[in-house]
Amino acid sequence: MTEAHDGGQLPGQISLSGQSPIRPSAELAPVAEPEERDLEAALRPKTLDDFVGQERVRKQLALVLAASKIRGRSADHVLMSGPPGLGKTTLAMIIASEMNAPLRISSGPAIQHAGDLAAILSSLTEGEVLFLDEIHRMSRPAEEMLYMAMEDFRVDIIVGKGAGATAIPLELPPFTLVGATTRAGLLPGPLRDRFGFTGHLEFYSVAELELVLRRSAGMMDLKLTSAGFSEIAGRSRGTPRIANRLLRRVRDWALVHGVETIDARTASSALDMYEVDARGLDRLDRSVLEALVNKFNGGPVGLSTLAIAVGEEPETVETVAEPFLVREGLLGRTPRGRIAMPAAWVHLGLRMPANAVAAAMLPYNDDELDG
Ligand SMILES: Nc1ncnc2c1ncn2[C@@H]1O[C@H](COP(=O)(O)OP(=O)(O)OP(=O)(O)O)[C@@H](O)[C@H]1O
Ligand SMILES: [Mg+2]
Repeated sequence: MTEAHDGGQLPGQISLSGQSPIRPSAELAPVAEPEERDLEAALRPKTLDDFVGQERVRKQLALVLAASKIRGRSADHVLMSGPPGLGKTTLAMIIASEMNAPLRISSGPAIQHAGDLAAILSSLTEGEVLFLDEIHRMSRPAEEMLYMAMEDFRVDIIVGKGAGATAIPLELPPFTLVGATTRAGLLPGPLRDRFGFTGHLEFYSVAELELVLRRSAGMMDLKLTSAGFSEIAGRSRGTPRIANRLLRRVRDWALVHGVETIDARTASSALDMYEVDARGLDRLDRSVLEALVNKFNGGPVGLSTLAIAVGEEPETVETVAEPFLVREGLLGRTPRGRIAMPAAWVHLGLRMPANAVAAAMLPYNDDELDG
């Protein structure tokens, strides 16, 4: 346990204080903490064969790469889209290594001026892979320069200002742009159209996450039973980043408790302590469901009322808790407010009363409740 702790908090302390706000748990955040980067880099698969799951994207990408090798040209530009932690950066690195090409890494937010991009583009070597993370956050002028670079391998460098400004055309060596975005919908059409191939990454199945975990456990020299792997996989919200993080937390627990082979009971004791439940819900997710079910008989109830009931800001409930609850079919959003889906009652170990089903169908005055 020489590595940095996530956020430096001891989860036990949070729950003991009793009145701390219900914060979303760091264990289940889909986005990586800065101190997590090195740990992640160590676990990244290096080849397409090593990359687990995403069968469709993997096959399509393999074809694009194989074809470009046969043609002896740099591969088409590739766009990777999908939620955080599913493997976009990993695939970008794999593309470079499969093409035996050097990799240059930058990101949308780092390119604020067209000049920033011109500097990168003009220093590319033939066949190089340029990875632009968060490509939807690039500035407009840089984006327009990128259009031309992608299509014609050429940029116009503007020298001087105002009436005296001249554009000096600059030829670029053929390169492969790999863009990554969590928000494909925010990409302007002309940019999207210039990618030869777009891979949409999907959430992983539990079986796929088990494979991710087996691979990671092997690299970390950990022993787990099959049931131990599936226990962790089931709580990982379809996201390899979260699976690897939970594996590290379980490893810590096993280390401290002197457990050598991690079975389902060890994994579940460890993750219960971090308040990650059997379905990957954290404390905030659960209190939203519990309020909905216990205080409002399953709803419908307005967002602001629900937020008050759990002592949170409506925005936190809406952006942090709801997307996963909706995806899991535990919570429904209706024009009349939020409702608990039948699976919510099951998950909380309760029976859905008949009138809760009926209540979800009744006209309901949301404003009156909220006021
Ligand atoms: N298919 C996979 N097989 C094995 N490990 C994976 C896979 N996908 C992702 N991982 C692991 O999950 C972690 C996060 O992956 P990655 O950084 O590629 O996600 P990302 O999509 O780029 O996320 P973000 O949107 O936050 O940048 C890495 O440590 C990587 O090793
Ligand atoms: Mg990434």
